Amino acid sequence: MLQLAYYKEKGLMANIIIGSDHGGFRLKNEIIEHLKQLGYDISDLGCYSPESCDYPVIAKQVANEVLNTGNKGILVCGTGIGVSIAANRFDGIRASHCTDTFTARMTRMHNDSNILCLGERITGIGLALDIVDIWLNTEFEGGRHKKRIDMI
Ligand code: RB5
Repeated sequence: MLQLAYYKEKGLMANIIIGSDHGGFRLKNEIIEHLKQLGYDISDLGCYSPESCDYPVIAKQVANEVLNTGNKGILVCGTGIGVSIAANRFDGIRASHCTDTFTARMTRMHNDSNILCLGERITGIGLALDIVDIWLNTEFEGGRHKKRIDMI
């Protein structure tokens, strides 16, 4: 369970692992500010400047941290596609590239998505933050969906 209220009730900090390449640097910073204001604890794994860098490196770091901690991750690149391809190479990662709120909700309910991928050059800040909020606050339904995930 990752709902912020649940964590606060238990006296825990909900930790979100986040990373981007240069193509997602600005949107990543907007997301960090937004989530900090909501009370989330953020682990920012880079990049730390708009200088050109390689998205597979950042995706690997975020994927490993998600697998090691069990916390959820957010990855941003120019399109959201590169980071999703790279993150999904890791066993146990279910990275979802979302450009709308319906998909963000459904990928939590049915796929138990553990990394959200966004494209700074595709999705505007307002919509991106709505996608983040819905993705973080939607529960996995389990049941028949768990069986299907176990088949992957
Ligand atoms: C960087 O120019 C761009 O290729 C990258 O951010 C991403 O969109 C790749 O899929």
